[in-house]
Amino acid sequence: MIKLGDNFPNFQAETSTGKISFHEWLGDSWGILFSHPHDFTPVCTTELARVAKLIPEFQRLGVKVIALSCNSVKSHKEWIEDIKAYGGIKSPEFPYPIIDDESRRLVTMLGMMDLQELDSAGIPVSARGVFIIDSKKKMRLSILYPATTGRNFEEIIRVIESMQMTDKHKIATPVDWKKGDPVMVQPTVTDEEAKSLFSTEINTINLPSGKNYVRVVDQPTDS
Ligand code: BEZ
Repeated sequence: MIKLGDNFPNFQAETSTGKISFHEWLGDSWGILFSHPHDFTPVCTTELARVAKLIPEFQRLGVKVIALSCNSVKSHKEWIEDIKAYGGIKSPEFPYPIIDDESRRLVTMLGMMDLQELDSAGIPVSARGVFIIDSKKKMRLSILYPATTGRNFEEIIRVIESMQMTDKHKIATPVDWKKGDPVMVQPTVTDEEAKSLFSTEINTINLPSGKNYVRVVDQPTDS
């Protein structure tokens, strides 16, 4: 199992846009790899169409997107036409590749199976896995959804925005944070250090313990 902070493994794969070596394909970008149970399934079709429409958002964040489904490139290419029709996507090129993992080599290696959900042949399908990899190829986030629950990709974008900002500043983002909302000073930062780090007011919330650990500041302007 790959843990947060591990180097994300490199692999070679056939995709709907040709053969790739994953690390080379990522280059210096962040990346999101998300897996699907099968081509020509309803929930997956809605997800791939949504991600296609969100590509400008991922580009703004410097994130390359790649999907994986346990079917062949030939099948992916046919399915892409359905995804485009479903999503009203007019461009002739589909905006991101889909990995061929018909052999299930990658979903097995990456621990992306949903053992509860069997296909018509009785074989477990791959889960809806999401891996976010940073520009140093470290795994920064991993979520496994069951096959029967579609993901919320706006949440994925929200998390990337938080991670990229908290990489730059000694802050953390609170519950339900959205870009532009106030943020928290990290617990390891002393009050003295916080005063030098943040130019705007630090609002310390009084709590029964008397411990001043909930310190709210404006989101830094360069994030
Ligand atoms: C779907 O993508 O619709 C799906 C795939 C596997 C199990 C259930 C739903």
